[in-house]
Amino acid sequence: AKYSIVDKDTCIACGACGITCPQIFDYDDEGLAFVRIDHNTGNQVIPLGLEDDVLDAFEGCPSDSIKISELPFNGNPLRLE
Ligand code: F3S
Repeated sequence: AKYSIVDKDTCIACGACGITCPQIFDYDDEGLAFVRIDHNTGNQVIPLGLEDDVLDAFEGCPSDSIKISELPFNGNPLRLE
């Protein structure tokens, strides 16, 4: 199982992730990304069929703001760093 979360402190609102994987990534009023399936807590498992797209978004984020883990994030993008 994989979990994902966006670090909104480093997101530069480039808009790439929501194009790569719109089922998972959306943007707030400021254009900052968040994981839509769990209100960016990083606590809900990414559906298996979307794992590859999330990985593509992870690799394409210019500010390394997308985090992926096999453990839930509990709302903290830096939990594993
Ligand atoms: Fe932000 Fe990276 Fe998405 S900069 S808008 S999290 S691709």
